[in-house]
Amino acid sequence: MEKKPKPPFYVTTPIYYVNDVPHIGHAYTTIIADALARFMKMSGREVFFLTGTDEHGQKVEKAAAERGLDPRAWADKVVVRFHDLWKALDCEPDFFIRTTMEFHERGVQKLFQKLLAQGDIYKGEYKGWYCISDESFLTEDVAVEKDGTKICPDCGRKAAVVAEETYFFRLSAYQQKLLDHYAAHPSFVRPQSRMNEVASFVRGGLRDLSITRTTVKWGVPVPDDPAHTIYVWFDALHNYVTGIGYDWDLARFEKFWPASLHLIGKDILRFHAVFWPAFLLASGLPLPECVFGHGWWLKDEAKMSKSKGNVLDPYVLIKALGPDALRYFLLREVPIGLDGNFSHEGFIHRVNSDLANDLGNLVSRTLTMIGNYFQGAIESPAPEEDADTAVRWAFDEMKERAFAHYESYAPNKALEEIWSLITIVNKYLADNAPWKLAKDPALRPRLARVLFQAAAVIRGVTPLIAPIMPGSAQKIWDFLGEPGAVQDVRFDSLSFDDFKLGRTMKEPTPLFPRVDLKAFLADEAGTPKEKTMDETKSEAIPAPVPAPAQASVAAPASKPEPKTNIVTYDEFAKMDLRVAHVVEAVKVEGAKKLLKLKIDLGTEQRQIVAGVAETYTPEQLVGKKFIVIVNLQPAVIRGVESQGMLLAATVDNKASIPFFEPDVPTGAKVK
Ligand code: MSP
Repeated sequence: MEKKPKPPFYVTTPIYYVNDVPHIGHAYTTIIADALARFMKMSGREVFFLTGTDEHGQKVEKAAAERGLDPRAWADKVVVRFHDLWKALDCEPDFFIRTTMEFHERGVQKLFQKLLAQGDIYKGEYKGWYCISDESFLTEDVAVEKDGTKICPDCGRKAAVVAEETYFFRLSAYQQKLLDHYAAHPSFVRPQSRMNEVASFVRGGLRDLSITRTTVKWGVPVPDDPAHTIYVWFDALHNYVTGIGYDWDLARFEKFWPASLHLIGKDILRFHAVFWPAFLLASGLPLPECVFGHGWWLKDEAKMSKSKGNVLDPYVLIKALGPDALRYFLLREVPIGLDGNFSHEGFIHRVNSDLANDLGNLVSRTLTMIGNYFQGAIESPAPEEDADTAVRWAFDEMKERAFAHYESYAPNKALEEIWSLITIVNKYLADNAPWKLAKDPALRPRLARVLFQAAAVIRGVTPLIAPIMPGSAQKIWDFLGEPGAVQDVRFDSLSFDDFKLGRTMKEPTPLFPRVDLKAFLADEAGTPKEKTMDETKSEAIPAPVPAPAQASVAAPASKPEPKTNIVTYDEFAKMDLRVAHVVEAVKVEGAKKLLKLKIDLGTEQRQIVAGVAETYTPEQLVGKKFIVIVNLQPAVIRGVESQGMLLAATVDNKASIPFFEPDVPTGAKVK
């Protein structure tokens, strides 16, 4: 039977504002997109991966003015930073769009004109609050502060009042159509929790959207009415169609549109899951398949931002270890939909344990032994015994599962599968001790078999890690004596039997040297930071520390506690606090302070991670009862999912838990 050709895969990242230097948060989205693009290519799909920069709007206009520069000159300067970073991280977009490109501006104007002509855009008067930092209009329900200002609920900065003639987009007309689309395509927004959030926002009612400004000059002019500049988000969102040829390379546009995946941070969900599909519905263009809102990388439990001074410079993290360690860590540590708290300890621990120990050792000892015992080319292996066949089967099963996880955008799970196999093979080598077999010439065929199985797994696993760690995978490929590029392998045909006898392997050089945490931290502290664009001076007030997204008392902030804000009773009542009973407790490997607890809530059991290991041993906690917040957004801490947070006092950096008497019922509500 003839195989159906696979559909093309079109993946995008947000286009990044050119108001400052890129940080780990920007790198995260682009690395996910790059890894998925590579995977899909190796799956035999035709792929287009688009990223770029958002260069118009008030925010960029202001950043340039503060430096006495023309916005275009400023954008030209900053855009280089993004190009350089993607290169340093081995991210290879098929195209890098800048919204100042002429074809993009033309495309935006054309679509604007179409909507105007058909009545979806009309002229009126806008008066309301505007957040320059997020380039977004605030809704009526955002409260006015005592000093008469409004604070943007997303970024915590002061908003300004704008009152001007404007063109509106008739968003209200698309409320039902959007709801119908969500209902018919439940995976339109992922993860599911975000789909619910979006649908409930839309159900709450949509007001028409102001989409032009007369006070902002830096942008695409409204055709035939140049006093108006098109709103930066209307402009920017259309990069997803102009970037693949809308109106200038229709063959390519038709091949790749609609997008398979818009990867975005959860901060810009509404723009992508409400405004963007509404614009597309109005233009008569098909809607993208999926908008995936990934979580944030936090530092010290707060979203990274220059004003908080907690941004992580990707160059510092790749200096010692190269891009692959960072790519691996970011994709392995946290499922794409959840927040993660970045810690240098966690990063180094993972790199040492997964990359240097597990993968690095497997490759180096297998190939070194093949070099020493067989001059690089295995010959005449004995037939497979049961333990050998088990390795082959483990490979086949892993391949299927890892593949399915990649396909469903869960690279962390794909890597988990691959690493379970690596653990199996390391154990297989320890059990079969080829170094002992080598001592007896009569056992040479058996020695050949054991090393063959290990090398065949390495040969099979290498293409599967290539999307995440392209450079290291290619290195292993070369060690194996495989010709060409590992990324040219096609997964459809990937098999254990691809490892052929007679191929001469090379002596491996170290793939991932072990990193000493202390030396790394000392070096990091001493590294001159990548020259930053001088700081954007905004009228920023310190952003509020977000509600803890991390279920932990693991990392008590070293900074002073934020001012206590008054909460209303209704706000407090949203917290679901319960009496939990500890069923199991174990240490989290490599994390001094953390315990993984299985807790019973009466109606269900859950896993939480708690930073109490310095005060309590696992045995002391089993059977204990304490208070847990059960409706906190799940988070991943050191690679372990936490579905709640226990309450404890922190005294001298150590946790102290208030326990209940044993007769208090498990699951009882705490008010
Ligand atoms: N220009 C708009 C997007 C327009 S898309 C049509 C914008 N740009 S941005 O420079 O602010 O970049 C936002 C994106 O950067 C986020 O959506 C997310 O993808 C990424 N991140 C920025 N900080 C982040 C973290 N701390 N963690 C993870 N990703 C974050 O918004």
